[in-house]
Amino acid sequence: MNLKIAYIVCWIVTTVFSPLSEGRILNCCDLAREMSRLGVAKSELATWCCIAQFESRYNTTAIGRLNGNWSNDYGLFQFSDRYWCQSSAKPSRSSANLCQINCQHLVSGDDVRESIKCAQKVKKLQGWRAWSVYNGRCKNAKLLPSIEECF
Ligand SMILES: *[C@@H]1O[C@H](CO)[C@@H](O)[C@H](O)[C@H]1NC(C)=O
Ligand SMILES: *[C@@H]1O[C@H](CO)[C@@H](O)[C@H](O)[C@H]1NC(C)=O
Repeated sequence: MNLKIAYIVCWIVTTVFSPLSEGRILNCCDLAREMSRLGVAKSELATWCCIAQFESRYNTTAIGRLNGNWSNDYGLFQFSDRYWCQSSAKPSRSSANLCQINCQHLVSGDDVRESIKCAQKVKKLQGWRAWSVYNGRCKNAKLLPSIEECF
């Protein structure tokens, strides 16, 4: 086997079988870089880090529960299956589904693009205040994580 093929096989094995596909814990720079790549303004990135930190602890597969089964919240930014996504586990219960997405796609682990797209939509519709952690913890610019070293 020549070196190039060995390299490709190794890449496939580590990519496809890595534990990352079981869910992924990001850090602020991972998230900031991915969001920047998708066109999110740099001036917003520290606030997004703060929201992801306090909503999900950067856990891309986090599912939160509120009031028993009244609502579940999905993914990095914890979107509710009452308003933002439709849960396939609760097909009989309709959601406003404003992000027009199956909630499972917001907790797919290695692909956070859908969560980021939905986040942009929520912010556009409701502003930062859509996240309760914003007022409490992420509003004060002095307390935000630094993203300077991420780029
Ligand atoms: C991430 O969230 C999932 C689903 O709630 C949970 O099972 C997992 O333990 C969490 N990971 C960490 C490191 O907290
Ligand atoms: C939530 O749903 C599960 C399964 O449908 C049910 O067993 C459980 O009792 C419910 N919990 C509450 C607090 O309603």
